Amino acid sequence: MEAIIANGGNQLHGVVPVGGSKNGTLPLLAASLLVEGETIIENVPDIVDVRTMIEMLCALGAECSFVAPHTLRIDATNIHSVSAPYDLVNRMRGSFYVAGPLLARFGEARVPLPGGCVIGSRPVDQHFEGFSALGAEVEVKHGVMHARASRLRGARIMLDPHLRSVGTTINIALAAALAEGTTILENASREPEVVCFQRFLRDAGADISGIGTTTLVIKGGNHLESSRVASIPDRMEAGTFLYAALITGGDLTVQNVRPADMEAVLAVLRQAGAEVACGQDYVRICAKGRPLPVDAMTAPYPGFPTDLQPCHGVMAAIARGVSCVEETIFDARFNYADELRRMGADIRMVGHQAAIFRGVVRLMACPVEATDIRAAAALVLAGLAAQGQTEVAGAYFLDRGYDNFEAKLTAVGAQVYRQGEPDAGEQLWLA
Ligand code: EPU
Repeated sequence: MEAIIANGGNQLHGVVPVGGSKNGTLPLLAASLLVEGETIIENVPDIVDVRTMIEMLCALGAECSFVAPHTLRIDATNIHSVSAPYDLVNRMRGSFYVAGPLLARFGEARVPLPGGCVIGSRPVDQHFEGFSALGAEVEVKHGVMHARASRLRGARIMLDPHLRSVGTTINIALAAALAEGTTILENASREPEVVCFQRFLRDAGADISGIGTTTLVIKGGNHLESSRVASIPDRMEAGTFLYAALITGGDLTVQNVRPADMEAVLAVLRQAGAEVACGQDYVRICAKGRPLPVDAMTAPYPGFPTDLQPCHGVMAAIARGVSCVEETIFDARFNYADELRRMGADIRMVGHQAAIFRGVVRLMACPVEATDIRAAAALVLAGLAAQGQTEVAGAYFLDRGYDNFEAKLTAVGAQVYRQGEPDAGEQLWLA
């Protein structure tokens, strides 16, 4: 199995650039299916999840090609299939986004259920309810969702306010964009990635108001025009580097970011004792010694993001005191805690979704295994703070969500490299 090797002890210094957002780009790729023509997407990160989604678009009949580095051209004029292949949906949950546009444009979508995941049970029942509210007949047989509608009709849809589901907001908006009449989506998510996607729909000709609020109004039916869009900077990649600097006591400038999208994270970094300064497109963090303990609770945007909770856990593991960390979005996002414990962290779980971290002076290197994208990044960070050489198995999880992670870290002083060959399963992901 391919692993990342991290040698602990170096402080990170310098400037690190952030690429386009994974979770911002995936809905843009799906939205291109609504356009009978060309879509150009800039700032596309070179990561496995994006490549998987491009493979999905091609399997449905779209033509996709990179016309410049990180600039993708998609022509979805000749879509010939409304059936998403299982082997692609199975690789990542974001591929379920093709359901909304296929249903809206062709009146039918067959998409296998993405299933559960290593970060918890992740049903798509809210997506089904949304499609049904828009007039589709939805059934699940043999693990495949089959949705049909001669014409979708706008409706008032109340999403579950306790979930604030990003994926549901996106999939329903994709379907509603071509539906007849007005859709009012209440309790919509307002993550920056969702807002970027909504702006793309508007720029392509959809009649959308309430962008960036929890009530989205979509007057459907407009033909969507060819357009050009740039994905937003990846705030999770940016946050990962900021935590890397905090954990190693470094001084790092993270560039090509939108600081306004990261306020909850920046507040936590300041509470941990770091100096944080922001410019228009950068954040500089200057950390001093061991971080102070900070309690954190994940929440939908603008709250503290679940995707940075594992990095926060690593920080809490070496902080000068006790931190309580509560996960409110996913029920198995603390899988990384067992691995951290093996490195000497003092973590007591309170149920499955909260943990008390008593900071230790130093983590000790040992072999650990990542089980999801964010846990992989966090365990590499733990390795950078640990005494000795840490081997993080499951490098392909990093490749799903981080573009050039080791190279970027190495350029700012980390000792981190890759070892071993991808096994057959990993090669499938990397294809
Ligand atoms: N949920 C349901 N039913 C549904 C949909 C969601 O119960 O039909 C629940 C989920 O199980 C979860 C909560 O609602 O408990 C929120 O899930 P959400 O739908 O918001 O998550 P998602 O759209 O599947 C996206 C990101 C995740 C990120 C979450 C939360 C993409 C492709 N994925 O997932 O990113 O953690 O929003 O912000 O955008 C990652 O990048 O590593 C990652 C996991």
